[in-house]
Amino acid sequence: MRFSAKRKAVKEFYLTTAIDYANGSPHIGHAYEKILADAIVRSRRLEGIQCHFLTGLDEHGQKVQETAERQGKRPQQLCDEVADLFRKMCADLHISYDDYVRTTQQRHKTVVRNILSKLHERGEIYRSEYKGLYSVRAERFVQEKDRINGEWSEDFGEIIELCESNYFFRLSKYQDWLVEFLRRNENFIFPQFRQKQVQEFLREPLNDLCISRPKSRLHWGIELPFDEHYVTYVWFDALINYVSAIGYGTENFAQLWPADVEVIGKDILAPAHAIYWPIMLHALDLEPPKQLLVHGWWLARGGEKMSKSLGNVVHPLDYAKIYGADAFRYFVLREMVVGQDSNFTHELFVSRYNSDLANDLGNLLSRVGRMVERYCGGRFPEMAMIDSEELALRQLAEKTIRETRSHCTGYAFSLALESIFHLVKTANGYLERRAPWKFAKERGANARRLLETSLAASGEVLRIVAALLSPVMPNISEKILTQLGAEPITQWENLRFSNMLVGRKLGNLEILFPKVEEEKNALSAVST
Ligand code: ME8
Ligand code: MG
Repeated sequence: MRFSAKRKAVKEFYLTTAIDYANGSPHIGHAYEKILADAIVRSRRLEGIQCHFLTGLDEHGQKVQETAERQGKRPQQLCDEVADLFRKMCADLHISYDDYVRTTQQRHKTVVRNILSKLHERGEIYRSEYKGLYSVRAERFVQEKDRINGEWSEDFGEIIELCESNYFFRLSKYQDWLVEFLRRNENFIFPQFRQKQVQEFLREPLNDLCISRPKSRLHWGIELPFDEHYVTYVWFDALINYVSAIGYGTENFAQLWPADVEVIGKDILAPAHAIYWPIMLHALDLEPPKQLLVHGWWLARGGEKMSKSLGNVVHPLDYAKIYGADAFRYFVLREMVVGQDSNFTHELFVSRYNSDLANDLGNLLSRVGRMVERYCGGRFPEMAMIDSEELALRQLAEKTIRETRSHCTGYAFSLALESIFHLVKTANGYLERRAPWKFAKERGANARRLLETSLAASGEVLRIVAALLSPVMPNISEKILTQLGAEPITQWENLRFSNMLVGRKLGNLEILFPKVEEEKNALSAVST
């Protein structure tokens, strides 16, 4: 399918995510980022845009080497196991990626080596002695200016003095170019305040970037094509995934690059994605991605950083297993304003699950379903009597369609969901006021028309809600449409509030969001 798409004049929307480190297991940060990326891609597809969605795994580096040693495994074996875990996370969370890149794949290693050779031949990479302070944990040389109030941040771990001969990339040469680029492209980084931070950072002169590690210290990496005693440093390897996976240098590459959006977390914006990456690309005569979308961090209760030692890490797959992947997707996208941090607490999760999902949405569907079954023989009646109540509902539904589409385009999923659930609540209120169950007991054409109209209108709201929820809750969306007996919805363009359900036969009615009792306690132990 992609082959025919390739020849289209319109460029596909190319989205990437950070590639996760292979030295741990998936946590909520990994899950959130992939869910956010997935919701973006799914909403673009509903706008009729062809997409290419890349995610993957970052497998080289000291930490992976050490973890493998500790576990008595070959690094590749460890990576294969971890890759299975991360891919399972994606499958369990319905992440609709098109390609999964692993930095140990030959296609990636070949491109990294090509790029290194090219930059070396062009004199962009040179060899030099370097003596300095080195952070083992951050795997990089640090400088006096990295001290905060005279202290090294805990993130650096142990600091040692190191002197070695290494290869350097001429980063500093391109500082002025980058400053100018950011000045001209003020929406390069979303949200904009992050771009200001990067510009602030660039007021200080940049140093050239050390891109090699002697094999004596690190063997788990990609060997430099011009010096077999070295491997390349993790960032130079990892960042290249965005171009290696789409076949750097081939026709396919030319069709997809530059990426439309690269989704990353705030900790890897500067210097890696905002400085190294655009400069690496520029040195290769390539354009930077069109935009970096920088999300915030999930924190534990009270704004604490999640960490294994604090025992407050949220295990996304436990939540997905117990409450359903879509409920988890709903929660993280409803709760976090893209770009800002959020706290994850079990109480908040349960409260959203019960009130928004089970009560508001779940109830609306089951009430409508049961009444259509009972009073209309399981087939949707016609919306025959448009009164001010129905007009108001229609107006709100169409406003919600417009708002949701524009919010999704602007990455404002939290607002999109807020407006969709406002529609759900309004439909519940409408049904209360119309009280079709009362008309069921009355005789006469008017009573019948009111009953039918109110069920048809509520059903139509549910159809629209299902269509609009689809990027965030793809499975729930499908289930709602199936229960309504509605056609699947693959595009938003012609979505309107109309008599679309008339004559449609209900599918099997089942509860969308069952009450969860016992497991609650097991999970709250995890997150408190
Ligand atoms: O940084 N909340 O990998 P990684 C939200 N391999 N997002 C979080 C988070 C949290 N608590 N913790 C981590 C790496 N993330 C590199 C990337 S890209 C060429 C190489 C995000 O497994 C983090 O910000 O440490 C990053 O975007 C992603 O998860 C992977 O983090
Ligand atoms: Mg990290």
